[in-house]
Amino acid sequence: MSRIFSGVQPSGNLHLGNYLGAIRNFVGLQEDYECIYCAVDMHAITVWQEPEQLRNNIREVAAAYLASGVDPKRSIIFSQSSVSAHAELAWIFNCVARIGWMNRMTQFKEKAGKNRENASLGLYAYPSLMAADILTYKATHVPVGEDQKQHLELTRDIAQKFNNDYGTETFPLVEPLIFGEATRVMSLRDGSKKMSKSDPSDYSRITLMDSRDDIAKKLKKARTDADPLPEDPADLKDRPEADNLVGIYAALANVSKADVLKEYAGSQFSTFKPALTDLAVEQFGPIGEEMKRLMDDKAQVDAILKDGAERAAAIAAPIIREVKETVGF
Ligand code: ADP
Ligand code: NA
Repeated sequence: MSRIFSGVQPSGNLHLGNYLGAIRNFVGLQEDYECIYCAVDMHAITVWQEPEQLRNNIREVAAAYLASGVDPKRSIIFSQSSVSAHAELAWIFNCVARIGWMNRMTQFKEKAGKNRENASLGLYAYPSLMAADILTYKATHVPVGEDQKQHLELTRDIAQKFNNDYGTETFPLVEPLIFGEATRVMSLRDGSKKMSKSDPSDYSRITLMDSRDDIAKKLKKARTDADPLPEDPADLKDRPEADNLVGIYAALANVSKADVLKEYAGSQFSTFKPALTDLAVEQFGPIGEEMKRLMDDKAQVDAILKDGAERAAAIAAPIIREVKETVGF
C-alpha cells in the first residue's frame, strides 16, 4: 500500500498557504492511502522558538489537522520529536547527502538571509531531516506546496545514493502531490514573496484563526492594481497580486481561475475583494472555531498526539532496524 507523509512546522501563524498548499489536501488522501501527518517541531527549532509557545504551537498544528477533517482514527497525527527514528535516520542521511547538494537549496538561502554564517547548522541540514521524516516510514507520496519541490528532489537523491552505496533497495523514490490553483500562495502585501508564517507583517497573511473582521480587513488592504479583472487567466501573468487573489478564490471555490474570471471579468477589486472575503470566512470560520475549541481542550489533543506517536514509532521501528543493519551498526 502507498503511504503518505507530510508535515507542518509548529512555528505559529498557520496561514492560508499552509491550508491550500498542504493541510486541505490531507483530508481526501485518507480515502486511498495510509496517512501520517506530523507537527515537525524539530524543523521549527532550526530558528529560535520560545519553549512555551512551541508547546502550544504543536497543539495548534494538530488542531488545524483535526479541524480541517483529518480523522485521528484512520490517520496518524503526532509530533516529530516524539519519535526518535527521525533524528537517527537524519544523522545517517547527513552522512549520505553531499555538502554541494545542500548548497543548492533555495529555502536555506532565503531563510538564512544575508548573515549566512550566523544561521544554525540545523537550518542548513533541514532537507536531510525532511528526507528522514519521509523515509523513516518509507512513504511514497508527499502532499506539499510548490515551495517544497526542491527538497523532495533532494529526498529522492538521498534515497537513491543510499540504495546505490549500500547495494540495496531500501528506500522508495517519493513523489510530490501538488494540487489545485493555489500551490504557491503569495503574500497579500507583496506579490513577489510567498505567504509565510515568519513574515513580520500580519497583513501579509490570512491565518486559520483569523476572525471575520481580520479577514475582511486584510483583504481590503491587500495590494492590487487599478485595472479590472481580465477575461483570460493568461492576462494575469504580469499582475502577480491580482493573479494571487484570483488563484486563492479559485482554490477555495474548487474551480479553475478561468471559471472565476468567467464570473468576475470586468469587475473591480472593490467588488471582487468582498466576494473573496465571504468565501474565505465561509471556509475558515468553522475551522478557526473548531481549532479554538481544541486548543482549549489540551487533554484531548495531547492524547491524540500520544496515540499517534505510538503508532508512528511502531511503523518506524522495523525500518530503522533494517537501515542500521544495512549501514553496519
Ligand atoms: P511556512 O513556509 O509557512 O513556515 P511550512 O514550512 O511549515 O510553512 O510548510 C508547511 C506546508 O505548507 C508545506 O507543504 C508547504 O509547501 C506549504 N506552504 C507553505 N507556504 C505556502 C504557500 N505560501 N503556498 C502554498 N503552500 C505553502
Ligand atoms: Na516552508
